[in-house]
Parts: sequence; C-alpha cells; structure tokens
Amino acid sequence: MQEYRERIANKGQALQNTKDILYGASFGIPIGVIAGTIAMEKLRRGSSNRLTRSHLQVTPSTTERIAKYYIDETDSYLNGQLQGACHFGYTAEGDSFEPSTALRNMELLLGNILNLPPGSKVVDAGSGYGRVATRIAEEFGHTVIGVDLVPQRVEEARRFVQEHGVADKVTIHQGDYTKLSLPDNSVDAVYTMETLCHADPLEAALGEFMRVLKPGGKVVHFEYAVPPYDSMNPVNKRIAEIMTQRIGMASIRRFTHGSFATLLEAAGFENAEVNEISRNVYPTWHWMFQRAIRERVPTALRQSLKGKLMEENTNLAGALFIWPYRRHLGYTVATATKPVYHT
Ligand SMILES: C[S@@+](CC[C@H](N)C(=O)[O-])C[C@H]1O[C@@H](n2cnc3c(N)ncnc32)[C@H](O)[C@@H]1O
Repeated sequence: MQEYRERIANKGQALQNTKDILYGASFGIPIGVIAGTIAMEKLRRGSSNRLTRSHLQVTPSTTERIAKYYIDETDSYLNGQLQGACHFGYTAEGDSFEPSTALRNMELLLGNILNLPPGSKVVDAGSGYGRVATRIAEEFGHTVIGVDLVPQRVEEARRFVQEHGVADKVTIHQGDYTKLSLPDNSVDAVYTMETLCHADPLEAALGEFMRVLKPGGKVVHFEYAVPPYDSMNPVNKRIAEIMTQRIGMASIRRFTHGSFATLLEAAGFENAEVNEISRNVYPTWHWMFQRAIRERVPTALRQSLKGKLMEENTNLAGALFIWPYRRHLGYTVATATKPVYHT
C-alpha cells in the first residue's frame, strides 16, 4: 500500500514537473528575447565610460523611486482583479486558486497572526490603498492607523475607508514609516504587508516600530525572501540590482532565506518566529506572472528593442527577472515582540 502511494505521489510530481516545463516553454521564447535584450543593453551601458545625458541628472532618492513606481503602476494595482490590494494571496494546500479569495485569505491570516483583542491599536505601515487596514478593522475590530508615502494612495485609501463605513476605526496618514508621528509606547502592534523591502534603511523602520510599540507589543511582517544576489549568474544579478533600485526596494537583498529572525533580533526584538508560506503564495505568483506576460508582451517587445523595458514596464521586467528564480523565491511571515522591560 505504502509503495502504491509513493508511486502515485511520484507520478503526481512527474506530472507537475511536465506542466512546469510546458508552462515555462510557452513563456520561454518571449522572455528569452526580452530578458536577453534588456540584460545586454544594461550590461553594455553599465560598462561604458562615456559621459552621457544621465551624468547630468540627480540620482533620485528611494522615496522618489517608490512614488514613481507606484504612480506609474496605478492602473495595474487599482483596476483589474487586484482592486487595490497590493499584496499576494494565500491559497491553502489542496484548495483551488481563486484570486479574490486568495487575497482575502492573506488579510485574514494577518489578522489571526496579530491575535489581539478587538479594539487593539495597530499601525499599518505602508498601507497602500487601505484594503488591508479596512479588512483588519471590519473583521477583527481593531483601530488601525495607516501610513503611506504616496499621496494618491492615501487619498484612495481614505475614500475606500469611508465607503466601507470604518472611518471611526481607520485613519490614513500621508508620511514615512521610518519617521512615525506617534508617541512612544503607544500602540499594541505594527504590521507591514509587502512593504518592508522598501525600508531605507531597514534599521530606521524597525527602530521606529520598536519606539511606538508598547512594551510586549508585536510586529508582524509579511515579506518576500530572495536568494543571495551573489549566488545569481551575472546577467540576472544585474537585472535584480536594476529592478530593486528602480522600484526603490532598498532592503530586499537583505531578506535572504532564514535571515528575518536575525534582523529582528539585531533591532532589539525578541521571540522572533518566522514561518515560510511560499507554497501557499505560488498560485497567486503564477497568476500574476501570466497576467503580466499576457497583457504586456506586445508593448514589451517594442520597449525592449528600444532598450526601454526597465523604464517603461517595470512590473514585466520584474516578472522576467523572477522567472528563472521562481523556485528560489520565498515568502515569509515574521513575528516578534518588544521586550517588556524596554523603556
Ligand atoms: C506593495 S505596496 C503594499 C500596500 C499594502 N500594504 C497592501 O498590502 O495592499 C507597498 C506600499 O508601501 C508604501 N511605502 C513604501 N515605503 C514606505 C515608507 N517608507 N513609508 C510609508 N509607506 C511606504 C508604498 O507607497 C506602497 O503603497
């Protein structure tokens, strides 16, 4: 019986591998053309010593890069099936994937991991369009203070909060979560949903979260995990560097697999726990990848031939960078607490 089960499991794995290969092959050609073109273009530019127009420009700050990226991508995040949720979804093992259920499940998972009594005061750092904050207030009864850098996102988040009748529980502020205008020791929890990768520097963000938390208060971070950049081949490493710079993901390269507990402990938190949920996130990941390819390849081919893909189609360029590393990317949920003796 045991042998029979193993044979079935092996067959299932073989089928999955074949599906992966076919899936990969169907995207492989356009990806290869585009990725090869952008990589060569960037490598060529990177190794040139000639002075160009770019030498006359001021290097944008991380904040400017973040704002530009999210404003440029307004349509892809706010419209279509994401409907303003700027995070991945959670699909339980054995369940079939459905986008809005998966997105909702990720938000419910966050609320359950916060595990606080209704009425607790929590900060949503990098609150985006306010979808997560609204869900946390509606489903768990918490008071949520959202903070986001991008004024257009703040405006839409406030509209959404009003529309959903939770304005008495959710307030949204425009600002930088590395400089919160909240008193010391004043909140029960701080959470981040796929934004800590932007923190610049990470220590400033974690230091601020520590400052505003009450002793014993909790941080919860939903975040990506990446392979060490130095383990990538030179072309993919270069694409990764350009991508992370362009999107303003100043901290992402520090989130290598298994690094989160050490980062949190170095910032003074204790009881750090890290749970890997990559397998539950892959269905959304593949869905987003397919969408990026389907909707953008025709323009992307043109842009890549002009050497402009990175500038004009960041999400697709990101998907292309991710593709060869899709089995190496991870998604983690990290929690930790502020020591009770902390002042
Ligand atoms: C991927 S989106 C996630 C939004 C939201 N958490 C969600 O899950 O829908 C990242 C958000 O973080 C915001 N952000 C990045 N760095 C920030 C900072 N230092 N302070 C405040 N917001 C920031 C961006 O403007 C963007 O809205």
